[in-house]
Amino acid sequence: DIPKLREVFEPYFRIGAAVNPSTLTAQRELLARHFNSVTAENEMKFASLHPEEERYAFEEADRIVDFAAAHGMAVRGHTLVWHNQTPPWVFQNPSGGAADRETLLARMKSHIETVVSRYKGLIYAWDVVNEAVSDDGGELLRPSKWLDIAGEDFIAKAFEYAHAADPQALLFYNDYNESVPEKREKICELVRSLKEREVPIHGVGLQAHWNLVHPSLDDIRQAIERYASLGVKLHVTELDVSVFLHEDRRTDLKEPEAGMLERQAERYGRIFRLFKEYGEHIESVTFWGAADDYTWLDNFPVRGRKNWPFLFDAGHRPKPSFREVVEAA
Ligand code: XIL
Repeated sequence: DIPKLREVFEPYFRIGAAVNPSTLTAQRELLARHFNSVTAENEMKFASLHPEEERYAFEEADRIVDFAAAHGMAVRGHTLVWHNQTPPWVFQNPSGGAADRETLLARMKSHIETVVSRYKGLIYAWDVVNEAVSDDGGELLRPSKWLDIAGEDFIAKAFEYAHAADPQALLFYNDYNESVPEKREKICELVRSLKEREVPIHGVGLQAHWNLVHPSLDDIRQAIERYASLGVKLHVTELDVSVFLHEDRRTDLKEPEAGMLERQAERYGRIFRLFKEYGEHIESVTFWGAADDYTWLDNFPVRGRKNWPFLFDAGHRPKPSFREVVEAA
C-alpha cells in the first residue's frame, strides 16, 4: 500500500500541485489521493481572468476552486501582478498610447478587488506580486511596464489592495532564482522595505525550479534562513527538479538516462529533509505539476523535449524520488 504524501507530511506542511483544466481530469485520482493544496497553473493569471477591460472569465478558475472544495484541499492563488501573461489593454489607452500612472493603478486596483473578493474565504494565500526582482546587474527591480508606468510603489499598492479585499488572506511575494545569493539578497531587501513601511505582506514564495545540482543544498538552506529571518512565512510554490542541467539543451532523449532517476531521488530526499528541518517556517510545499505525463518543462527552456521532474511517472506510479521523499518524513 502506497503512503499518501499529504498524510506523511501532515505534521510539517501542506503538499500542493499546480493543476490545469486537462490535468484536473487526467490526474484526478492522483491529485485527490496525495495532495491537499492546489494552484492554478495559468487560470488565475491576469490574461486568463481578465482578457478585456470589461470582461472577466472565471469559469476555469472556478472549476479549480470547486475541485479543491470537493476534495478538502486548500487553494493558493497565482498570481495578481506579473510582467508576463498580462493582456496589452492593461498598459494602453483606448487610443493606443501608453496608459498613465493613475489609470494603470486604478486598473490594478479594480482587478485585484474583483478577483480577491470573488474568492474570499476560498483562496487562503495569494501570490500578490510575481517575479518583480531583477536577476542581474545592480538594480533591485526588473524592467517592466508596471515599473515603467506606475513606479516602484506598484508593489506596495498591490499588497494594500489585496489586503483590503480579503483581510484574512495570506499575501506573498513570489520569485525564482530565489536561492541564488545575489538575487536572494535583493528579494530580502524588497521584503524588508515593504515590512518597514507596514505593507501587508505575510510571506515569501520560493518557486524552487531546481535541477539535479543547482542550487546547492547549502544555498537553499541559506535562502530559507534569510527569508525566515524577515519574520514571514515561507511557501515553496512551484517545485520541480529537472533532470537536465541549465547548459544541457539536448532534445533527443526519449527516456531518462541511466542513473538520472536515482540521482533525482537522492536530491529530492535531501531537499525534503531540509524542508522538514525548517517545518516551523515552511507552511506549504507545492509542486509545479503532479506527475511526469505533464510538465511545463517539456517546453522550457527548450521546446518539445521530455523532462521527468516529479515524484510520479507518466503512468502515475511512484518513482524512486517518491520513495526517498516519503523516507525523509
Ligand atoms: C508557466 C506555466 O507553467 C506555463 O504553462 C505557461 O506557459 C507559462 O507560465 N514561474 C511562474 C509560473 O510563476 O506562473 C510559470 O508558469 C512558471 C515560472
